[in-house]
Amino acid sequence: MALPNPTDLFTQIQALRAQLHAHNHAYYVLDAPTVADAEYDRLFRELQALEAAHPQWVTPDSPTQRVAGQVLDAFASVRHAVPMLSIRTETDTESSGALAFDARVRKELELTERDVPVDYVAELKFDGLAMSLRYEHGVLVQTATRGDGEYGEDVTQNIRTIGQIPLKLPPGVPPVLEVRGEVYMRRDDFEALNERQRLRIAAGEKGEKTFVNPRNAAAGAVRQLDSGIAAQRPLSFFAYGVGEVTPPGEGGPAFGTHYALLQTLKAWGFPVAAQVELACGAPALVAYHQRMGAARDALPFDIDGVVYKVNSLALQQRLGFVTREPRWAVAHKYPAQEQLTTVLAIDVQVGRTGKLTPVAKLAPVFVGGVTVTNATLHNEDEARRKDVRVGDTVIVRRAGDVIPEVVSVVPEKRTGDATAFTMPRICPVCQSAAVREEGEADYRCTGGLFCSAQRKQAILHFAQRRAVEVEGLGDKLVEQLVDAHIIRTLPDLYRLGLSALAGLDRMADKSAQNIVDALEQSKQTTLPRFLFGLGIRHVGEATAKALARHFGTLDAIMDASEDALLAVSDVGPIVAQSIRTFFAQPHNREVVEQLRACGVTWPEGAPAQAGPQPLAGQTLVLTGTLPTLGRDAAKDLIEAAGGKVSGSVSKKTHYVVAGAEAGSKLEKAVALGVPVLDEAGLLELLK
Ligand code: IVH
Repeated sequence: MALPNPTDLFTQIQALRAQLHAHNHAYYVLDAPTVADAEYDRLFRELQALEAAHPQWVTPDSPTQRVAGQVLDAFASVRHAVPMLSIRTETDTESSGALAFDARVRKELELTERDVPVDYVAELKFDGLAMSLRYEHGVLVQTATRGDGEYGEDVTQNIRTIGQIPLKLPPGVPPVLEVRGEVYMRRDDFEALNERQRLRIAAGEKGEKTFVNPRNAAAGAVRQLDSGIAAQRPLSFFAYGVGEVTPPGEGGPAFGTHYALLQTLKAWGFPVAAQVELACGAPALVAYHQRMGAARDALPFDIDGVVYKVNSLALQQRLGFVTREPRWAVAHKYPAQEQLTTVLAIDVQVGRTGKLTPVAKLAPVFVGGVTVTNATLHNEDEARRKDVRVGDTVIVRRAGDVIPEVVSVVPEKRTGDATAFTMPRICPVCQSAAVREEGEADYRCTGGLFCSAQRKQAILHFAQRRAVEVEGLGDKLVEQLVDAHIIRTLPDLYRLGLSALAGLDRMADKSAQNIVDALEQSKQTTLPRFLFGLGIRHVGEATAKALARHFGTLDAIMDASEDALLAVSDVGPIVAQSIRTFFAQPHNREVVEQLRACGVTWPEGAPAQAGPQPLAGQTLVLTGTLPTLGRDAAKDLIEAAGGKVSGSVSKKTHYVVAGAEAGSKLEKAVALGVPVLDEAGLLELLK
């Protein structure tokens, strides 16, 4: 056999590298993988093998060279060729705060009201760490933290491990290019990392800890002296500017605007946030601040504000700097979502299903736009893990409409001698035993409707807008009615007379009449609302709807066998068991009977499965877009034929129905050998 020609081998190595670079970019930056993982791994191993046989050809920009072997003692200091400045922060967190920036810019540029609006670029302010990436002749040679702006730390070997950061740039880039941006951690990556850390701690591994927030986790990863560990910390990157770049006179690019610069960075393979926008004049900045504020909690990463930059680079130059801050940019923040406060007490609240929730009572603190005095500790394990004690200083977080929670204790500030929290073994409201079932996180009061806390919650649940809706029946009123023993069970609600109501504290005749009217009105309801209102564990609105559609009548649901319940899509063994248990209890059936006797009524339909049942007992998964049937229509057809639609593919799936742009579910079906149908195939099955 002839030996391979070395030139061919070298060409082959280069071709493999180019392919892997392209796949990396598609996967990490564009979020649109171009090959299956197995194919990527095969190419990667092929390159590794060739490089192992020819070490003289290994270059630092090879995709195999992301993780360095050695562990550093300390980071070297790097002088930034162009200082890494900070930006001024607009103090007013209202959206109108943007007006002040525009006014300053216009004044500095000596523009009057008659002049045209200034063009800006509006960007997100990522909550991570500033980073400078230096490329020479298209190869990543050094990355440094901001440090004091003039000198940073050389963290190259850690930053190289970030898949989103190109090691090599396409031909035609300037000989010297410093890209500046933010290294951050996505929220889902952060949660997964903390989950892994918890497992490590539970396994007794020394020196491991969980992280308080994505920013801290990212900072810890960047400053890891062992790049092997840094590589296991999932970091991401967004580019938002440049440092030193070969000037146009020496063969560098001539950019006119910041926006064009960002588009070019994107074309060269850097991740640039999709939310970068051109904004003409101050009103557009105000609108951007508002819009991103509303979108903030739905983003996959944390931001602490937005940044506005004058778009024209010529104007940027004219505006220049004051001290170390550019006049052409400003950070416009949102109200902080985390604050420090102290724990005054730890209470235990009893929920509708008897669940006991430890709640920290806090010294009032303004966070996430509201004043917070309570924060959930979720359950015993969480409370223990966080080890929150009375008197502690804690970090409280409130993001969007999510209930406020204690993120962690600030251990250095613990002074008191408060003891660790333990969950009570009896219900704090009714003194019944509280038990924690095997495999469950929660303690539950066993008092059932004997427990006044559960009774109150059950009534509020039934009366809420999404259930039978009794307008005006709020928690204060229910509290009084239950505490005064006026109502004990749901049917008692409908026995409430004007006189009983009018006798209550702060209840005007008019309000009493309104409640009576609202109760009367609530009697005409629908089966899904009634079913949901009963408060059966695990039966939420969607499940109640599915049950009503499938069975048609309440009696059919009450008497359904476990198998019959399992035939409903979205009903699994736990839900089916819960429904069976609920209706097996005579007092629950009694409540239903009495409610009906009080006049609560709803239209009942025919059970959905009147026709033949060719798909009885079969589970199907829908994925992708079907040519004619909508997803709901396909689901209805399958269910009408006795089949069940599930959201995920497993060995138990009978068929996967795949349409256009089917993704991972289709791949999984193929991998597991589950038969795959198209729309025509499904219709054939239904015949
Ligand atoms: S521009 C000269 N743009 O905010 C302007 N900074 O003090 C340089 N940051 O820690 C900064 N998102 O890392 C810019 N879209 C963005 C940013 C951003 C986050 C950080 C930056 C620095 C601080 C600015």
